[in-house]
Amino acid sequence: MAEINGIWDVKETDFPQTATTEAKLKFLLNYAILAPSSHNTQPWHFQITSNAIYLYADRTRLLPIADPQGRELIISCGAALFNLRIAIRHFGYMEKITTFPEPEEPDLLACIELGEYIQSSTDDNLLFQAIPRRHTNRHDYQDWDIPETFFKWLQKDAAQESGYLHVVKNTIVRRAITDLVAEADHLQMADANYRSELATWMRPSSSKSHDGIPVYAHGIDEHFDFTTPLFALVLRNINMGDSVAEHSRKLLENSPAIIVFATETDTPSDWLAIGQALERVLLRGQVVGLSTSFLNQPIQVPELRRQLSQFLDCCAYPQIILRLGFGVEVKPTPRRSVDEVMISALSNV
Ligand SMILES: Cc1cc2nc3c(=O)[nH]c(=O)nc-3n(C[C@H](O)[C@H](O)[C@H](O)COP(=O)(O)O)c2cc1C
Repeated sequence: MAEINGIWDVKETDFPQTATTEAKLKFLLNYAILAPSSHNTQPWHFQITSNAIYLYADRTRLLPIADPQGRELIISCGAALFNLRIAIRHFGYMEKITTFPEPEEPDLLACIELGEYIQSSTDDNLLFQAIPRRHTNRHDYQDWDIPETFFKWLQKDAAQESGYLHVVKNTIVRRAITDLVAEADHLQMADANYRSELATWMRPSSSKSHDGIPVYAHGIDEHFDFTTPLFALVLRNINMGDSVAEHSRKLLENSPAIIVFATETDTPSDWLAIGQALERVLLRGQVVGLSTSFLNQPIQVPELRRQLSQFLDCCAYPQIILRLGFGVEVKPTPRRSVDEVMISALSNV
């Protein structure tokens, strides 16, 4: 099993209630780092001062082929920012967030401070408790309908973070989205650079690495762990587009629901906002027992993204595609520790 190093067992009773603001802020980062990120790149780093956290995009962790603009990179940072906000509330403070505080420093995404004391709401506490229990679940889901009210809650959650959430109900649209995902798989897997990037972030289940996707997260039994280097070699050298597309198609056809996050414009500020909407929705899903996984391939291919946008009833820019359902429990994936993502630690390396 990949090295999880206790990171998911963060204990709220360890919150340093009587310590300095700086110590409290550092503790809160334990929740930020549990956010999802594309290929588990964890493309964030943080600087802490005596009274604030500065969240930076870490472009050394950009996926140049799948995400050349850094759109998913900033969405991932938005998810980390949301965890931080919910943790701040849970521990009894209003969050004070300034996004993009320095216009000439675009990779400085947010300044986060503790505001006045508050009584956290039951809902904030529910979302907080879901942070260490949320994991991407790429397995098949049960053939159970999702109650209509769940979709309303998810849409309300997205709207609360200024995000638009399209629930795909129409079967023709659903089929069209499935076709777009399969087409994207074919196009991406035909590109040796894309395959090589994918292989770079693949890890054996026994890896000691603190990032990347261990093969168990793709449902590969740890008894076959020894095949990972061979599989990575095959992935780099052979176009397996047909089987990947077929797998995605089956996953989508057997998923009770597909949802698409979208925005009206397509700027870093939209990406940071949709990352927060995404994480609020993922945590809500966890609260109500829903499993979630991503199928963003068509959004990563500009022409297919344009085609996908035609199926949305409002916004022009699709940002994330998720499938939803009820699934088995899955294991957490590794994370870099708080010390590893602090800028002071990075500058000392
Ligand atoms: C912006 C974004 C895009 C993602 N895209 C995909 C994707 O296309 N396919 C996929 O299987 N997982 C995708 N993921 C899920 C990540 O691989 C996952 O969050 C990461 O491996 C960490 O695992 P965890 O979510 O279980 O903590 C995405 C996550 C984010 C935040």
